[in-house]
Amino acid sequence: MCAKYSKILVTGGAGFIGSHIVEALADKGHMVFVLDNLESTTHGNNATRPKNIESLQGDIEFVHNDVRNEKVLFECIQEVDAIFHEAAVGGLGLSMYQIHSCIDPNCGGTAKLLDILVNKEHNVKKVVLASSMAVYGEGTYDCEECGVIYPNIRAEQQLTQKIWEIQCPNCGKTALPLPTNESKPLKPASVYSISKRTQEETCLLIGKLYGIPTIALRYFVTYGPRQSMRNPYSGVCSIWSTRLLSNKLPIIYEDGLQSRDFIYVKDIVQANLLALEKNNGNYLAMNVGTGRQIKITELASELIQAYDVNISPEINYLYRKGDVRHLFADISLIKRKLGFTPKYTLQEGLQQFEAWSREMFKAGEFTDKFEEAHKELENKKLLS
Ligand SMILES: NC(=O)c1ccc[n+]([C@@H]2O[C@H](COP(=O)([O-])OP(=O)(O)OC[C@H]3O[C@@H](n4cnc5c(N)ncnc54)[C@H](O)[C@@H]3O)[C@@H](O)[C@H]2O)c1
Ligand SMILES: [Zn+2]
Repeated sequence: MCAKYSKILVTGGAGFIGSHIVEALADKGHMVFVLDNLESTTHGNNATRPKNIESLQGDIEFVHNDVRNEKVLFECIQEVDAIFHEAAVGGLGLSMYQIHSCIDPNCGGTAKLLDILVNKEHNVKKVVLASSMAVYGEGTYDCEECGVIYPNIRAEQQLTQKIWEIQCPNCGKTALPLPTNESKPLKPASVYSISKRTQEETCLLIGKLYGIPTIALRYFVTYGPRQSMRNPYSGVCSIWSTRLLSNKLPIIYEDGLQSRDFIYVKDIVQANLLALEKNNGNYLAMNVGTGRQIKITELASELIQAYDVNISPEINYLYRKGDVRHLFADISLIKRKLGFTPKYTLQEGLQQFEAWSREMFKAGEFTDKFEEAHKELENKKLLS
C-alpha cells in the first residue's frame, strides 16, 4: 500500500471501471469507501445491491447515495486521503435527448465535490478523474495537401451520400487518420462529451488553483468483465456480445471501416494506480488507450472468434448522428509521465470478457436490447 493514501473514496465504485479500481485498491491494503447511487441505466431499476463489489475481499465500505447529496459526500470526503471520481451517467446517444439527466449528475456532482474540496477541511492529497476520449470529438487526420488537420464531425450532407471518410475542410481531399494526442483541440460532439469536458476542465482548474494534485484520465473505449450489459446505448463490445449470445447478428453502422482504440479494464486500473502513486502527471489530462487502431469490422471478427459462433456481422450503412469516424490514442504522454504500458492484447481481453459475459447471460442477468435501442435512436431522429 502507498502509505500516503490509506483511505480512498471511489465515487461510482459499484460500476464497471470503478469496481475494478476498488478491487485493486482493496487488494493493495487500502481502506476503500464506495459512494454510488446504483443508477438505473447501469444497474437496472430500483437496484439496492452493489453486485459488482459484493464478493470483493478487503476493507470496503459501500455508501448507497448520490454524489449530489452534499452532506453524504462531505462525510465520505472527510474520511479519505484520495479520491477517484468515476461517478457519471454514460450513454452518448441517450445524452442527446436526456440532457438534464446527463449534465446534472456529471457536472453538478463534480461541482459539489469541488465545492467541498475548496471550502471545507479535509486531507485529500490526490484527485483522479475519469475523463473520456469523447472530449476530442473527431480524431486527428493528415491531409496530403494541408498536413495535420482537426476536422469537425462529418456534415449530414456528406453522410447522406454515404461518404464515410473525413474530407479535408480546406481542400476537400480524403484525409488519413492519425493517433490523437492531448494537444488536439477539444471538440465534444455530444451532451455526454460536453459533460466530460466540463468535469475535466473544472477539476484541473480548481486542483491547480488550490494546490490539490489532480489528474484527468481520458479513457478510450473500455471493455471487460462487469461492464454494464443493461445499457444498450453504450459499449459496442457489450451490445455485440449480447447479440452473439442470443444467436443474432451483430449490426455494424456505416461501412464498418471506422476505428477506435479498445482498452481492457485492467489496463485502465493500471493507469489509475500510477496516477495515484506518481506525481509527474499532476494537473494534466492524459490519454489512456492502447495506441492500437482497431477497425469495427476487426473487432467484430475478434468477438465472433472469442464467442466461437458461426455468424457474420451485418453492415447496415446507416449512421448515428454525432459518431466520429476514427479515434485512437497517442499514449506517449502517459508513457513518459507515469510509465504506463498497456499489458493486454485485444484477444486476451476479449477472452476474459467472453467468459464473464457467457456466465452472466446464462444466469439471466441480461438480454439483448439492441432492437429497442435502435428503434429509440430512430424515433429520436438520431439514426439515418
Ligand atoms: N466505459 C467506457 O468505455 C468509458 C470511456 C471513457 C470514460 N468513461 C468514464 O469512466 C467512468 C466510469 O464509467 P463506467 O463505464 O464504469 O460506467 P458505469 O455506469 O458502469 O459506472 C458508473 C457508476 O457511477 C454511478 N453513478 C452515476 N451517477 C451517480 C451519481 N449521481 N451518484 C453516485 N453514483 C453515480 C453508477 O451507478 C455506476 O455504478 C465514468 O465517469 C465514465 O464517463 C468510461
Ligand atoms: Zn487539405
